[in-house]
Amino acid sequence: MAEVIIVNDKAAGGEIVAREIARLVRSNPETVLGLATGSTPLPVYEALTKHLDGIDVSQVRGFALDEYVGIAAGHPESYRAVITREVVEPLGLDAARIHTPDGSTDGIEHAGEDYERAIEASGGVDLQILGIGTDGHIGFNEPGSSFASATRVKTLTAQTREDNARFFASVDEVPRHCITQGLGTILRAKHLVLLAFGGGKAKAVAAAVEGALTASVPGSAIQLHPHVTVVVDEAAASEL
Ligand code: GLP
Repeated sequence: MAEVIIVNDKAAGGEIVAREIARLVRSNPETVLGLATGSTPLPVYEALTKHLDGIDVSQVRGFALDEYVGIAAGHPESYRAVITREVVEPLGLDAARIHTPDGSTDGIEHAGEDYERAIEASGGVDLQILGIGTDGHIGFNEPGSSFASATRVKTLTAQTREDNARFFASVDEVPRHCITQGLGTILRAKHLVLLAFGGGKAKAVAAAVEGALTASVPGSAIQLHPHVTVVVDEAAASEL
């Protein structure tokens, strides 16, 4: 069973996870981080600016979970742009060592396999940050995703496109496809840290942490992993 840490607020959750990441980077400058987008991990990245201050981060590597497919290059909401803005620049990481799946449509048929090879060549992700969608998705592994899945192209559900519409001018501008690390990829990380804040996530958290192990709740895959930490506020923990 996952270790569940209930925190007062998201800032406290960000502190706990940032402290653990700083500890890893101090002990291994070549730490490989699994990065997530969405609003949930932002307090972690904010707290990291303080916790990584004075630590050599030049060798840190990172792999984002996912990317939209076919989003215009340079679009501010591409996950490459988000990771650059929210993680790489504020933390002073080497952009060349931080990877996102290639969502450009040229060569999309090889992009999943290339990404898997790059993660493997890095030695694997040491700590994977995860948020969770209201429908239980992790990365962009929507309900029905195989627990053994690798990085591949997926179709976004209507629910996820609506949830993410707030980042775009309208829901029609939200891409329909994505490329995401698979559940099998995520499970190969050495430590999974799933964060969730707010009552809107309570059902998804309960289903993932202590519900049935089922492809209908992709987040339930974390139950197959031997080292999982779940960091939630009271509201997100309310259905546990
Ligand atoms: C997005 C991302 C996920 C994220 C989730 C929740 O679609 N692909 O990685 O965990 O939805 O987002 P938020 O943290 O903004 O609630």
